[in-house]
Amino acid sequence: MSDSKVQIFDTTLRDGEQVPGCKLNTKQKLVIAKALDQLGVDIIEAGFPVSSPGDFRSVEEISKITKNAIVCGLTRSIENDIKVAAQALKHAKKPRIHTGIGTSDSHIIHKFKSSREAIIERAFKAVRYSKSFVEDVEFYAEDAGRTDNTYLAQVCEAAIKAGATVLNIPDTTGYCLPHEYGEKIKYLKENVKGIDTAILSCHCHNDLGLATANSIEGVINGARQIECTINGIGERAGNTALEEVVMILKQHPYLKLDTNIKTKKLYAISQLVSDSMGIYTQPNKAIVGANAFAHSSGIHQDGVIKNRETYEIIDPKAVGVTASAIVLTARSGRAALAYRAKNIGYILTKLQLDEIYPNFLTFADQKKEVNDNDIHQIIETSRIYNEIITN
Ligand code: KIV
Ligand code: ZN
Repeated sequence: MSDSKVQIFDTTLRDGEQVPGCKLNTKQKLVIAKALDQLGVDIIEAGFPVSSPGDFRSVEEISKITKNAIVCGLTRSIENDIKVAAQALKHAKKPRIHTGIGTSDSHIIHKFKSSREAIIERAFKAVRYSKSFVEDVEFYAEDAGRTDNTYLAQVCEAAIKAGATVLNIPDTTGYCLPHEYGEKIKYLKENVKGIDTAILSCHCHNDLGLATANSIEGVINGARQIECTINGIGERAGNTALEEVVMILKQHPYLKLDTNIKTKKLYAISQLVSDSMGIYTQPNKAIVGANAFAHSSGIHQDGVIKNRETYEIIDPKAVGVTASAIVLTARSGRAALAYRAKNIGYILTKLQLDEIYPNFLTFADQKKEVNDNDIHQIIETSRIYNEIITN
């Protein structure tokens, strides 16, 4: 793998599916897994096989149909979880077991009623046991975001000694600030013995709206895998949004980091996930929201019509959106009205625009948005309709 390549680990079907009330059936998961494989994700986390027979079946079926991506199953540091995950993954061309344990004092004391030493021992054994089934084993240190760095480095070292190929550093509660998360990755890069034999992975949650920023800070500081979900879905405030991190790396080539994602497929897969789960994406969602490439104020519309890049840093076609949208509202100017009228066949001169524009504003004041039918009506009922050239 080249040093500029950031692996995209998609967990829409595992962490993403933890959104309350959005459970998918196996058939829906298979459709999404196929689309993820075609999108070019490097790893599909297909589920948590021991958690239910349905999850087991989904991981098993996804393993059978996935052509390119690694298929991954989640486990706790429990032998039976690992054995069951290995069974579910047995048809995968490239199987990965994702095992781990909580490492923050809060998890060690309250959740496990254990000690730091005993947790290291469990981490080591879980990775070693996983290695008896598959070569590719990812270890997660749950709540790494709130784990003291010196201890985290010891846990990582034990996981590497046991054979971990990837070390996942989750900010499980979305607590870290970007510079703190970046420093954590840097610290591990510099202080864990054997770190060059493993890939560091960012797994960030969005409780403070920082999941994307933290993941980017992670890869700038040496991580080479990002765990994310389509549309940023997931428990509570969700996970890092795949489309955001991918487009950030693409739009900032000087970072010299890229992914294998076919970005033209981003909009379609966003719609697929949103429809399958019945969660509608907020209109102002970066990259895939309905308004991500829509312009409604007169000044912006005039700028975009003259040159798209005046108000857009991404070509909508690069993410599979057909074109920028010029939305007609009472805030729109003559340039936008002329542009939209031209799209439906009317070539308006400056004088004709001056005549029609006040009628348009009256119409727009009564409606939130003026559509193509409304434009026809405005023009057809105008005094100068017979003079207007159509094409
Ligand atoms: O957020 C988290 O810590 C996780 C792990 C189970 C990987 O999802
Ligand atoms: Zn998570």
